[in-house]
Amino acid sequence: MEVSYIKLVEIAKKNSFAVGAFNFHNLEVLQGIIAAAEELSSPVIVQTTPPFINDAGFKPVIFAAREIVSRCSVPAALHLDHGNSFELVQKCLVNGFTSVMIDGSKMSFEKNIELTKKVVEISKAVREDIAVEAELGSIGGVEDQIIDGGSGKIIIPEEAVKFVEQTGIDALAPAIGTAHGIYKSEPIIRFDVAAELNKLIKIPMVVHGGSGLDVETFHKLIQLGFSKINVGTELKIAWYKALENSFKNGKTDPLLASAEARKAVKEIVIDKIKIFGSVGKARDFINIKD
Ligand code: 13P
Repeated sequence: MEVSYIKLVEIAKKNSFAVGAFNFHNLEVLQGIIAAAEELSSPVIVQTTPPFINDAGFKPVIFAAREIVSRCSVPAALHLDHGNSFELVQKCLVNGFTSVMIDGSKMSFEKNIELTKKVVEISKAVREDIAVEAELGSIGGVEDQIIDGGSGKIIIPEEAVKFVEQTGIDALAPAIGTAHGIYKSEPIIRFDVAAELNKLIKIPMVVHGGSGLDVETFHKLIQLGFSKINVGTELKIAWYKALENSFKNGKTDPLLASAEARKAVKEIVIDKIKIFGSVGKARDFINIKD
């Protein structure tokens, strides 16, 4: 059941849980994510990035993903992660995405505002309930060949207020010390900055770089107003390890190996959904009034 991203994250924020937003790079990863959400009766966001869309082709990715999302039994939203151009965002919006992220974090503050505002305007012109997520500060690390600001730059809360007001975005991905990819050392999460943002900003916030964070960190961030949590790298690792294992064990048939990969991805997503507190929330979703 396709639902709007805005509804998902706002309801999550009001009810102190987070919706997992999981990155997919092929069909079996997407199916593994959806299977986990269905098993736990949890809402879910599935998202993908420009490198995969460019690699597999816009229509094959979008049509397959929309078909899977609209048929699934839980509230689900299809989201563009790290949209890197106005043109791609526009194309996604007219082809059924319910939300997009525009990532102007490598630009100057002013240019980021200008681009993000333009995306918000076009989105709301397409459909009022389309959500726009944007990044401020710079979340470090590497995601899908997208090098996101190198080592990262922590958000300045006062700038965040101005950014949210001037752009009209629906969700903010603030740089608070998380990073995309594998953490090479213990991440230093700026809970103080997160708490300050929570006081100043009313819209839901998004954790990027969810792979490798511990349970306590997730719980603290959820309490501080983060209601969407992105996880990508852990799914990639589960996928390739499952395939590697299958091949080692002589399961080289694509269907058999893919089934193993799907199962491995599903297990990781199940684990995260439990931590994020969204188990059973799909059933409640229609009953929760905003
Ligand atoms: P990880 O790959 O570190 O989980 O980050 C995912 C992400 O934030 C996607 O935008």
